[in-house]
Amino acid sequence: MGAWQAGFRSWGKGYSKEDVISAYRYAFEHGINFIDTAEIYGNGLSEEIVGEAIRGYDVVIATKVAGFNISEYRILKSADMSRRRLGVDTIDLYQLHWPPSIYTSICRVMKSLEKLIDKGIVRHIGISNFYGDILEKAVECMSRYEVVSNQVQYSLVYRVIERYGMDFMEREGIALIAYSPLGKGVLAGKRVADNRARKLDGVFRRASKDDDLLNNLKRLSEKYGVSMASVALRWIVEKGGIPIPGVKKKGHVNAVIDALEIRLGREDINLLDNLSMKYRDYPVSAIVPRLVPGFIVKVLTSLTGGV
Ligand SMILES: NC(=O)c1ccc[n+]([C@@H]2O[C@H](COP(=O)([O-])OP(=O)(O)OC[C@H]3O[C@@H](n4cnc5c(N)ncnc54)[C@H](OP(=O)(O)O)[C@@H]3O)[C@@H](O)[C@H]2O)c1
Repeated sequence: MGAWQAGFRSWGKGYSKEDVISAYRYAFEHGINFIDTAEIYGNGLSEEIVGEAIRGYDVVIATKVAGFNISEYRILKSADMSRRRLGVDTIDLYQLHWPPSIYTSICRVMKSLEKLIDKGIVRHIGISNFYGDILEKAVECMSRYEVVSNQVQYSLVYRVIERYGMDFMEREGIALIAYSPLGKGVLAGKRVADNRARKLDGVFRRASKDDDLLNNLKRLSEKYGVSMASVALRWIVEKGGIPIPGVKKKGHVNAVIDALEIRLGREDINLLDNLSMKYRDYPVSAIVPRLVPGFIVKVLTSLTGGV
């Protein structure tokens, strides 16, 4: 599961901290044991809520250090603050949220992350939003530990990693953690951009007009007797990814449980592959933001109230 929604800033109103915590616990009680958060979600609030929810449960915690907190000192400080908010001694998976700007040596950052394993602060290192050359470079930079995962946007409506890194990741044994696996809800049948997360997302807008894909997804959901969301999540699993859908309530979790249980037929997977092939065509958006120095991203993030 993804816990951006527990930061509240981008995901609208109409749900509470209690809703989120009971959804997470319901999931943990039904075999879902992986939850992803980040220091920037709600400026730490998501980590705090995840920390409260996991108390008493044996689950795998992933969080992220912002791509602007990349000096050795800042990384150590961020990891310590995340540990405190999450209430854990060791973070299972610590991910670099996005590649640092071109003015920073990626190897220096990766080596600082390795030191966190030496200190027992984190168990594994992951990256996020890494594509193409910078993905390969980050992996090469590691001298003593492996990069175990790359968390990227991946769904039936965003398949860019298939062109810029999926083969490399498979060869290197790097797990693909799929964020926005429901295209921010469009693959669960939501067509209206009713919150900030959706309003700012061109992928959501484009996909919400794709009657062909969405009608077929609906038809398949009826065929398998599950929700559209479950079919969309299962497609990612069939592709070898680990989807982390953002959930707010128990009803959302039921779709995740169903996704673990259904099996899609080969002809249905092929149909979904074909209908979504066009969503491989986005440019690698990660390249342009790397021209902007980290401190500017940091200032902009705080001026806009964070995510
Ligand atoms: N690394 C990164 O840069 C990055 C970026 C984005 C996200 N993420 C991570 O990935 C996670 C998931 O991505 P996301 O939150 O962007 O998008 P998502 O999982 O594609 O969509 C989440 C939204 O879909 C709706 N939804 C979920 N399950 C549903 C169901 N069963 N039935 C109907 N609607 C359902 C909910 O919408 P409503 O709110 O309308 O109920 C929910 O807020 C995040 O929580 C975060 O942990 C990481």
